[in-house]
Amino acid sequence: MVGLPARGKTYISQKVCRYLTWLGIKTKVFNVGNYRRQLHGANLPHTFFDPHNTLGEQQRREAAAAALEDMMRWFRDDQGIVAIYDATNSTTARRRWLCEKLGKEDIQVLFIESICQDEELILANIKDVKLSSPDYAKMDPDEAAVDFRARINHYKEQYETITEQELTYIKLINVGSQNIINQIQGYLESRIVYYLMNLHIAPRKIYFSRHGESQYNLAGKIGGDSNLSERGRLYAVKLPDLIKTNLGDQDLTVWTSTMKRTIETSEKLDYPKLQWKALDELDAGVCDGMTYEEIEQKYPEDFANRDEDKFNYRYRGGESYGDVVLRLEPVIMELERHENILIIGHQAILRCIYAYFMNYSHEDLPYIKIPLHTVIELTPKAYGCEEKRFKVDIDAVDTHRPKVKKSTSIRKLMPSLKLPAVGASGEIVRDPMSPIIPISPQLFPKGSTSSTTNTKTSSS
Ligand code: ATP
Ligand code: F6P
Repeated sequence: MVGLPARGKTYISQKVCRYLTWLGIKTKVFNVGNYRRQLHGANLPHTFFDPHNTLGEQQRREAAAAALEDMMRWFRDDQGIVAIYDATNSTTARRRWLCEKLGKEDIQVLFIESICQDEELILANIKDVKLSSPDYAKMDPDEAAVDFRARINHYKEQYETITEQELTYIKLINVGSQNIINQIQGYLESRIVYYLMNLHIAPRKIYFSRHGESQYNLAGKIGGDSNLSERGRLYAVKLPDLIKTNLGDQDLTVWTSTMKRTIETSEKLDYPKLQWKALDELDAGVCDGMTYEEIEQKYPEDFANRDEDKFNYRYRGGESYGDVVLRLEPVIMELERHENILIIGHQAILRCIYAYFMNYSHEDLPYIKIPLHTVIELTPKAYGCEEKRFKVDIDAVDTHRPKVKKSTSIRKLMPSLKLPAVGASGEIVRDPMSPIIPISPQLFPKGSTSSTTNTKTSSS
């Protein structure tokens, strides 16, 4: 990251981290401010950041070096793929030092510079996040704001925007009203740049609702394209009032899947609507239309494999949660670009989207509770989302299957079940029935063999 204080660097770092982690790309943020507080204490006055303060300058360099050391260790020992070095990095000398250190370890560098000249926005940022920072604990807010502005001025004295044509960078100017990109190469950098170009910070709300209870829900069957039950239709009638009560007269766009149950649920809503094929429920392949009991009887090994690794398990002829995350990526991009949206979706689909906003690991994602006849309201805030749930008073079946406890896991009862393995020459030996391997590009340390599952992701 590059930029003066209060330019959204931490905000951007955390969003990119959440996005890549959701895609299955191991990512971690290293925030130099946290190292500074740990090494030299919080509550440091603005004079600490004065470039003419030699001791302050040296202590800031120490914090930067400690964070960088940890980051390089994480790449080496934890097989990290993307690290986000969250600091001002506001001088050419500092960036040259970073490039030298990282270049020696063959680590590719992409600079993300946030430039913002909107003084009102900077003031709002200071009020929004800086006054509640540990740096200003117990300080009078007005005094803290004055101190923070003095801190910004110290950085301005030295600040040098990126000019080196040989560097890879994106400059986000005034929250994306203009973007400059330079030397962007390869898939991952392009994904990150495209993602950054879609971000906005206008206040908005995102609503999730599953379709009303369906005929298949009542029968305990998964998948299919059934109509709503009587109670489901009642939910569709009540939904508009609930949304109106919370959103008032604001604009909203409703997204549904192409399946009858979500379209029927949206029918009484008087807002523009869009159908997405990408929002269709997880495809259960040969198990589509069966109950969980029928699947357990007919395909006991599959059933056990799914409990063992639900995120990666792919139904025969169908999909895994990992597949669904990939197909939802364009939906996430559009969600980032838009303002108020209501998604009327399905259990597995809404779990995936909710996990993106609420930072759930792949391991926990398939067990998130998204009950029927409940509206979830997310309000994006500086470093996360605020959540409210509104339960509509119409009964519905519970379709949530809890996670099988490890001690009673079917794997213990059936130890002969096959899991994917690594062959003698390091190739992945994959049983067609086994869970698929991760969806992300994988980085294997030189000379090592690949591992076959990697469902646990890290977060910052
Ligand atoms: P510091 O250097 O003090 O750590 P920072 O640059 O990391 O500051 P943040 O803590 O990320 O700043 O500031 C968060 C605020 O920035 C949020 O209120 C968010 O809405 C806002 N913000 C997000 N993106 C941008 C942007 N591109 N330009 C300006 N502000 C932004
Ligand atoms: O039961 C409703 C449903 O939407 C099914 O159509 C789908 O297969 C299932 O939920 C997904 O939930 P799980 O991944 O927990 O089986």
